[in-house]
Amino acid sequence: MNARQPHADNGVAPLDMDGLSRILFGHAAFQYLNAACELGLPELLAERKESSREEIRDGLGLADRSVDILLLGCTSLGLVQRDVQQEENSRYRLAPVVLDLMAEGDWQRFKDTVAFEQYIVYEGQLDFTDSLRENRNVGLRRVRGSGRDLYHRLAENPQMEQVFYRYMRSWSELANKHLVEHLDLSGAKHLLDCGGGDAVNAIALAKANPGLDITVFEIPASRTIAEKKIAQAGVGGQVSVVTGDMFSDPLPTGCDVVMFAHQFVIWTLEENTALMRRAYEALPEGGKLVVFNSMSNDEGDGPVVAALDSVYFASLPAEGGMIYSWAQHEECIRAAGFHSAQRVPFPGWTPHGVIVATK
Ligand SMILES: C[S@@+](CC[C@H](N)C(=O)[O-])C[C@H]1O[C@@H](n2cnc3c(N)ncnc32)[C@H](O)[C@@H]1O
Repeated sequence: MNARQPHADNGVAPLDMDGLSRILFGHAAFQYLNAACELGLPELLAERKESSREEIRDGLGLADRSVDILLLGCTSLGLVQRDVQQEENSRYRLAPVVLDLMAEGDWQRFKDTVAFEQYIVYEGQLDFTDSLRENRNVGLRRVRGSGRDLYHRLAENPQMEQVFYRYMRSWSELANKHLVEHLDLSGAKHLLDCGGGDAVNAIALAKANPGLDITVFEIPASRTIAEKKIAQAGVGGQVSVVTGDMFSDPLPTGCDVVMFAHQFVIWTLEENTALMRRAYEALPEGGKLVVFNSMSNDEGDGPVVAALDSVYFASLPAEGGMIYSWAQHEECIRAAGFHSAQRVPFPGWTPHGVIVATK
């Protein structure tokens, strides 16, 4: 009966019982992915091309029952393929999509994202319903510390801080090659990277634009990690760090581009507009605002990664956030005084893109 129903407007096929069960057990599907990553199953299969159950058991140091559970899950989810030609002596191979990520050099970035979901996102999402009811990030109560948001609690949780910044770097790197490619900074002299994290995007832009100076503006707790990464990348002559609160402290002066990378998914639309207004005031006439993060579509029905990622932003980091639509970003940009906003969606499986607006 489902087969005769048309696809929804966003191209999504009508949900059948298989799809509904995968949602029901979505948390368990993720645990198979996480366990495979932590145990090293993908690397073992990639190295050996194919392996028997016993070779996997011994290679991963698992008991018989444990390897049976792992292979039951990983094969039924498609992470691993079982060779059906050899019924008696099954051989297991890695899913082509994982091999592709490895070939593209993105597998470690993907795994850093898995670790972030496991060790930071998972627990806070238990409060998703209450976060919707109360329209605030109830899940933050599960993160030890007294900081006003997740970022101000990371320093109080060093293990979490490591997982977070490893992920943030990788998540940025999955998309910032497109940022570097699409962002024309030929006339720019000094870019301010507001909430620039460990300087991952500043470093990429500095390398691509040797004449450009960049200031990373961060909370004091993130200074050390940003300065360490800048020194490691050898761009200390071009990129520096200034600490402060981008909501309340004066923004560094003398910049002709202000970038916010992965910022406008965290805060409310009102806070986003306020930040953009601060950028507007700091910029000269003709100066540019750069918005780089994930965006959802203007219809409010996808893409699915934007929808799923929004559970984290609703539950955990700060009081109000989600993967807002392109149009919502543009409304804030206009309200802050900018004109001629240009949107560029990026290719790839993450819903990233950039909007560039001019003062
Ligand atoms: C989601 S991370 C994005 C990091 C980086 N821009 C990237 O794309 O990889 C948000 C960053 O904003 C910083 N941040 C949060 N609140 C801030 C504030 N009030 N002032 C300056 N930075 C802030 C956090 O410390 C964190 O590094």
